[in-house]
Amino acid sequence: MTVSLLRFAAPRGLRVARAEGQYVWDSGGRRYLDFYMGYGAAFLGHRHPRVVKALEEQLSRYMTITPAFDTDVLDECLDALGKILPPHLTRVFFLNSGSEAVEMALKLSRKLTGRRKVLAFNNGFHGRTMAALSATWNPKYREGFDPFPFEVVFAPFNDAGAVEEKLSEEFAAVIFEPVQGEGGIIPAKPEFMRAVEKKARELGVYVIVDEVQSGFGRTGVVWAHERGGIKPDMLTAAKAVAGGFPASLIAVTEEVASRVKDTDHGSTYGGNPLALAAITAATHVLLEENIPEQAEVKGAMLSEEFKPLLQDYGRVFRDLRQTGLMIGLEMRTTTTQFIKMLQKNGLIGFKAGLTVLRFLPPYLITREDILFAAETLRKTAEEFQRLQPSEKS
Ligand SMILES: Cc1ncc(COP(=O)(O)O)c(C=O)c1O
Repeated sequence: MTVSLLRFAAPRGLRVARAEGQYVWDSGGRRYLDFYMGYGAAFLGHRHPRVVKALEEQLSRYMTITPAFDTDVLDECLDALGKILPPHLTRVFFLNSGSEAVEMALKLSRKLTGRRKVLAFNNGFHGRTMAALSATWNPKYREGFDPFPFEVVFAPFNDAGAVEEKLSEEFAAVIFEPVQGEGGIIPAKPEFMRAVEKKARELGVYVIVDEVQSGFGRTGVVWAHERGGIKPDMLTAAKAVAGGFPASLIAVTEEVASRVKDTDHGSTYGGNPLALAAITAATHVLLEENIPEQAEVKGAMLSEEFKPLLQDYGRVFRDLRQTGLMIGLEMRTTTTQFIKMLQKNGLIGFKAGLTVLRFLPPYLITREDILFAAETLRKTAEEFQRLQPSEKS
């Protein structure tokens, strides 16, 4: 019998033999600069030595002890998170993926309010499990999966007036990404975040910030919602939080924690010792290497180098959006072909929506990498332009 992969993502046409830091090598030994990084999960770079060491040490102790038992690895992880989580989010539960963390946040909001409506936003992405999908906007992802467990109302992103109009006492939660990733790298405006929080407080609606992609220093602050100065009731984090190891977490207030029962949730693998060790190591790296500041500085450098492309290749690129090391280059066409050509030229990116080229580089990229990325984009735009039908005069 032949077993093959049930594919949902198109194959990239690259056989990876090795990955280290900001690079991957194919089976022929050719090196690529990786700005895809496992959908942004390897924000610390592939195989960050601190994370690898923590995992190896943990493997030599125990691998399958749940957080129902007291362990040093759990205590160390909670201590580390205490140094980076917003101070009012004092209670943490560990899970395995971003979707699971969102699922749990929505589930709790439903039980604690007794309400079933959720406000989410156009172009928002929160994952593929049923509750997370219910808050995910893209109609293509939703098609054929209704009815959803939540009645989700979508509002235009960054439109405080629409939130004012739509939110009511029938809502359990409002959920948003402080920077929309899949939606095309769109930051939430600070005043929008504040308006959402204010309205939600008036109505007893829980505020959930989904920091699965934007969190852990990537945008120049540890948590992107800090830029709004808001205090969410629940925060979801995954991807970078364990240095590329599969893990996620939800952090909630004491108010939320005091109202949940021990039968309300659970997970076999959530908080497994390897994940906890990886989160601890990743958090130490974040603090010691001042990752948010590095993301801010290197993101600005990338933006400086990419900006001239908009002018020089105006027929290919429409817009550049950058917040820390979350970068979206909006194209005038769909991105599939361009991404393939870019990869052939040595730079790996991926798409956000239909027309945005997304780059989620690791914090350790150098000035040389940035110049290589800009030069590779330029070269690829040149080739791409030649393939496009010329404009009618
Ligand atoms: C903002 C956001 N939320 C949730 C998810 C879902 O995470 P996962 O794919 O780990 O389930 C993603 C994944 O890209 C995301 O970007």
